[in-house]
Amino acid sequence: MHNNVNELFENLWQQYLKVTPSAKNIHQFFGNGETIINDHIAIRTFNLPKVNLAVLAQHFIDVGYEEKGQYNFESKKLTAKHFEHSDPNQPKVFISELRVEECSQQLQDIVTELVEQVDASIPLAKNFLYNGAPWQVSKAQYELLIGESEYAGWTAAWGYRANHFTVHINKLAGYNDIETVNEALKTAGYTLNAAGGEIKGSSDVLLKQSSTMADKATCTLSDGDVEIASCFYEFAQRYNMPNGEEYTGFVAASADKIFESTNNS
Ligand code: NI
Repeated sequence: MHNNVNELFENLWQQYLKVTPSAKNIHQFFGNGETIINDHIAIRTFNLPKVNLAVLAQHFIDVGYEEKGQYNFESKKLTAKHFEHSDPNQPKVFISELRVEECSQQLQDIVTELVEQVDASIPLAKNFLYNGAPWQVSKAQYELLIGESEYAGWTAAWGYRANHFTVHINKLAGYNDIETVNEALKTAGYTLNAAGGEIKGSSDVLLKQSSTMADKATCTLSDGDVEIASCFYEFAQRYNMPNGEEYTGFVAASADKIFESTNNS
């Protein structure tokens, strides 16, 4: 039994707020009580068959999503796809997976051990995408993973959840562009991810993006709690293609830097 599309995003949103206290404030700040249209959400995983991108994607396909674009992040060893719903006000979904076989033997061994703990029925369960880590990871394993791949450490610790929600600036009342949104955020005291510049992309590539740096939150590992980067908020301004329709894809060079919003320092 799967979710309906609104129920799925409401569950993802409530789970996201629990570890991203700034998101509640930012949502209130920009929405002022009105509905905010999300451009997209993002979810991370490993490419081992039991929990890979295709397994996660099926949850969205079941509620009406279709695959639309594919991306490669060479240095981060990630493959990603994006999915869209026939209702343009439903968020796009960006799912990435770490190509585990390209990583060190040590990382491969740890990730394999984590995924082996997961019964095959679990990733098919209705609540899988908003239920956090389905495995037990120790502090030592987390440290080894994050030392090699920030993405692997984050995914092992936080598991399945929305890594970020993204305000669709074109549909945001009171703001016309990302520059104004960024200024408002900084004036309100939020730290923006400056990797590659505060604004990633340009009108030339039909997409501009910015993001806050992730909050810090308590994550319970198998042998104790750690205080680590959790999730962040992103902002996207899109431009029209020559045919007059809004560009709905992603720009790999920009997304590459957005991934760094969960760096711990
Ligand atoms: Ni994003």
